[in-house]
Parts: sequence; C-alpha cells; structure tokens
Amino acid sequence: MTDSFAKRATQWDSPQKVNMTDAFVAAMLKVVEPEKNWTALEIGAGTGLVGMQVLPKVKKMVFEDTSEAMLGVLKEKLQKSDNAQIVHGEVAEYKNCDIDFAFSCMAFHHIVDIDATLEHLATITRKGATIVVGDVRTEDGSFHHFEPIPHTGFDTDELGRQFEKAGFKVHFVKTYNILKRERTPGVISEYEQFMLVAQKI
Ligand SMILES: C[S@@+](CC[C@H](N)C(=O)[O-])C[C@H]1O[C@@H](n2cnc3c(N)ncnc32)[C@H](O)[C@@H]1O
Repeated sequence: MTDSFAKRATQWDSPQKVNMTDAFVAAMLKVVEPEKNWTALEIGAGTGLVGMQVLPKVKKMVFEDTSEAMLGVLKEKLQKSDNAQIVHGEVAEYKNCDIDFAFSCMAFHHIVDIDATLEHLATITRKGATIVVGDVRTEDGSFHHFEPIPHTGFDTDELGRQFEKAGFKVHFVKTYNILKRERTPGVISEYEQFMLVAQKI
C-alpha cells in the first residue's frame, strides 16, 4: 500500500499541527479522565502528537497507524517508553480484547471502511470502554485540496448511527474547534472539528 504520509512525516509536528492536536487533547481530557490501569488505543496515531500526551496517564498505550513513516517519527520519540506498543497497519491488526479507552484525531476521514473499523473496535474494547473520535464535519473537499480522500468530513448523525450499529452508545457529539485555512488564494475557509464520545455497551 502507498504511504501517502511518507513525504510529510518528518515535517508533521509543525506549530499548526501541535495547536490542532492540543485543542483535541484539551477537549478530550475535559470529558475523559484516563485511569492508571487502562489500556488505551489511538487509531491513526501518526507521529503521536495526541497519544504521547495520554501515555503517562495509562498502563499501556497502543499507537496504531498505516504509515510506516509517521510511526518512524513516533518511534524516535518513544525511545525508552516501556508501556507503549506500536501497531503498523489497520486497526484490525490489533487483536487483544483489552482496550479501555480508544481515541482518534483527524484520522477517520482517511479510513475507507468505517463500518468494518467500528465492528473491529467493538471486538477489542472492554464493556464500558470510552471512545473519542475527532474529525471534521462534512466539507466540500477543499480541506484536502479536492484530492481523492475516503471521506470529505462526516455527517455526525450518520456516523453516530454507525457507532450504534457496531455496539456503542453515543453520548454526545460537539464542535470543539473551528479550523481556518486558506485553501483557495484569498479565501479563508472554516472547517468545524467535532468530537464524538461513545461507550462500548
Ligand atoms: C491527518 S493524520 C493525523 C495524525 C495524528 N492523529 C495527528 O492528529 O497528528 C491521519 C493519520 O491517519 C493515518 N491513517 C490513514 N489511513 C489509516 C487507516 N486506514 N487506519 C489507521 N490509520 C490511518 C495516516 O497514516 C496518518 O498518520
């Protein structure tokens, strides 16, 4: 599979990306208090801008991503962390049924088969596990410069139904940030970032 993040991995941790992921982490930690005995999973962890902040709060942190290049940057940060596991591939590659907390920031729109991902997530999460997914609401394709992408954002009602079908209870969906980007010269577009919080039934 082509690693579409290969060229961007070493430059990923820009101040803009750090601000973006910090906004997600702040919103997430307002609603979830990770516990010391939890096993946490980040789907589409990239270089670990989000998961590295959760790592010290839990027993084990699993970083999953399909990009070897992004995970390469993460590996350099992890060095001696003995409570971290890296999974290279789709989330289906993680098979232990021990996840207490799963989260994902800006990765779901890259995942082709959301239903299959959620079905698998339901098999590896413990009853009562908390899931937090952050991404953009439906947009016109400009966010990715009209390049082919599996999802041009999400209709969160539909995404919520997909979660419920897979065996999760959706607690709420809220907008936690508005991204402003100049995708067309001279035009500032706004992209609403939502956070969906669900629980494994
Ligand atoms: C926009 S980046 C976000 C990375 C990180 N979560 C962050 O906020 O900095 C999307 C990430 O999703 C990963 N990705 C793409 N398709 C994926 C899939 N099917 N399963 C898991 N990760 C995927 C990419 O490799 C990339 O690291």
